[in-house]
Amino acid sequence: MCLRVLELMPPTTRLKLLDIGCGEGKDAVFFARNGYDVTAFDISDAGIEKTKHLADNAGIQVKVFKADILDYRLDTNFDILFSSGVLHYVKPQLREEIFSNYKQFTNPNGLHIFNVFVNKPFIDPPPEKEPTACKWVSGELFTHYHDWLIQECSEVIFDCDSSGILHQHAMNKMIAQKCQCKRTQK
Ligand SMILES: C[S@@+](CC[C@H](N)C(=O)[O-])C[C@H]1O[C@@H](n2cnc3c(N)ncnc32)[C@H](O)[C@@H]1O
Repeated sequence: MCLRVLELMPPTTRLKLLDIGCGEGKDAVFFARNGYDVTAFDISDAGIEKTKHLADNAGIQVKVFKADILDYRLDTNFDILFSSGVLHYVKPQLREEIFSNYKQFTNPNGLHIFNVFVNKPFIDPPPEKEPTACKWVSGELFTHYHDWLIQECSEVIFDCDSSGILHQHAMNKMIAQKCQCKRTQK
C-alpha cells in the first residue's frame, strides 16, 4: 500500500499525508523519508514514543500526536489519508460521520488508502479477543466512496500467527481519489 502511494501520487510537491493509527511509525517514517509532509496519530503512548524515536533516528520530521480515532476530527486539509490495520476500531454508528469528515478535509485529487478487517462466514473469529474492535461488512468501506473514483479495491485472505495460534483474516483494501466535479449548472 505504501508503494502504491508513491506510484499514484509521488511527492513532486510537498504533499501533506496523515497516517491514522500509526502504531510504531514504520509507515509514517517511510513516507517522510520519501519526501511527504507527514502527520500521524495513535492512541498508544508507547506507539507515539516509538514513532518519534524512529523519525529521530532517520533524521526526518514527523508530526506525531496522541488521539482517539473516535473523537478526533480533521479541521485542516490533507492530500493523502493513509490507515492500515486500524479502522476496525471505528464503531459502525460513527463511520458515516467520520468518513464524511475525512473526505471533506481532503484536497481535490487527494487519495485515501485504507484497509479494513472484514467478516467472512467461512473464517473463524481470531483467537485473541478485542472488545473495542468491530470488523467491517465485506464491501462496506467502498460504499463510503460511491462519489469518489475507486482506483483500486480488493479483498484478501491471509494467515496470521500473532497470538501463537495460526488463524486467518479477511481484509478489504481500497484506494479512492477525490475527483473534481466538472458538471456546470444551467
Ligand atoms: C494493528 S496496529 C497498526 C499500526 C500501524 N498502522 C501499522 O500498520 O503498523 C493498530 C493500531 O491502532 C491503534 N489504535 C487502537 N485503537 C485506537 C483508537 N481508538 N484511536 C487511535 N488509534 C487506535 C493501536 O494503538 C495500534 O497502534
